[in-house]
Amino acid sequence: MSKDMTFNTLSLIVLKRIEEPGNIVRLRFGRPDGGALPPFTAGGHLDIHLLDEDLDMWRQYSLCSDPAETGFYEIGVLRDPKSRGGSEAVHRLARQGASFDIEGPRNHFPLEENASLSVLFGGGIGVTPMLAMAQRLHRLGRDFVLHYCTRSRDVTAFRDLIATAPWTDRVIYHHDDLEEDQRLSMDRDLPAPDAKTHLYVCGPQGFMDWVIGEAEAAGHASTNVHREYFSADVDTHGDSFEVEARASGVTVMVGPNDTIAKALAREGVRIEVKCEEGVCGTCVTEVLEGVPDHRDMFLTDSEREEGEMICACCSRARSARLVLDI
Ligand code: FES
Repeated sequence: MSKDMTFNTLSLIVLKRIEEPGNIVRLRFGRPDGGALPPFTAGGHLDIHLLDEDLDMWRQYSLCSDPAETGFYEIGVLRDPKSRGGSEAVHRLARQGASFDIEGPRNHFPLEENASLSVLFGGGIGVTPMLAMAQRLHRLGRDFVLHYCTRSRDVTAFRDLIATAPWTDRVIYHHDDLEEDQRLSMDRDLPAPDAKTHLYVCGPQGFMDWVIGEAEAAGHASTNVHREYFSADVDTHGDSFEVEARASGVTVMVGPNDTIAKALAREGVRIEVKCEEGVCGTCVTEVLEGVPDHRDMFLTDSEREEGEMICACCSRARSARLVLDI
C-alpha cells in the first residue's frame, strides 16, 4: 500500500507534562534510559496504549516536536468530554514518570518536502502536526505559512513554543472572537493553485470540510490538499451483507448495526483495530472479491476507487458479499 504501515513497539515514560491553555496537555515521552528514539517524519503520529482497570484502548496522537530531535517525542492532547474516553484517560494517566506502550512513529500525513510553497491550516488541537511540519520546513529553508485558528487567544495552546521558534513570523493567528478581517478568510489566505503549492489541513471536521471545499473550489488539485482527520463521525450502519475470510475458511453475516471486524472476531478471526472510527488505518484488509462501501477517512480517493482495500472497523459492502484476504 502507499502508506507507511510499519511501526516499532516502545515502552516510554512521560519525561515532562506541560499544561497548555484550552484544556490541552503537552506531553514529552522518552526512553527510561535516555537513549535515542526511532526517527519520525513531519506529520507522523504515535499509537498510545491507554490501560488501567477501567479501560484498554489505543489512541493516535500527532507528533508536534521537531523531527530532528531524537531524544524525545512530544504530543498535545485536548481533553474532550465528548470523545469516547481516550483524551480524558491521557489527561488522567499521563503523569510525569508514567510508563506507556507506544507503537510508531507512523506517518499517514507526510510532507511534500519539495513544494515551492506549503500552506498549513491548523484548527485548534489540529495544529499539532503543523508544528512538526513548520519545524521541518524551516530546516529545509522552504517557503511556508501556518494559519492557526482557535476560538480565542486565551484558549490557544503552544503560544510559548511558537513565540520562541525561529519561524514565529510564519505563523498567523486567527481567533473566532477577533474582528472579521483577522479571522481566516479563504479569499485572502488561500494561495493561487499551482502544481508546486501544497496545502495541509487538520482540525475539527467542520473546519476541515470548509477549508478543503474552498481549496478544491478554487482549483487546488485534490492531491495537493493533504488532510489528517483525528476524529471522525463515522456511520457504520447499513444493510446486512456476507463476508468470507478466505484464508481462515470462515464466513459471517454482518448485520445492520455490526462491523466486519466485530463479526469476524466473534468467529475467532481477528483483525487488529485501534481507533474504530476509520482514521488510523490499523484495520486495513485486502479485498479479493466484492465492492466495498467505504466509510473511513483513511484511504485516499484512488485507493477507494481501486476497491482493493477496506477499513474493517467501519466500512461495509455495496455488493451482497465481500471476500477478504485474511
Ligand atoms: S481501526 Fe482505525 S481505521 Fe479501522
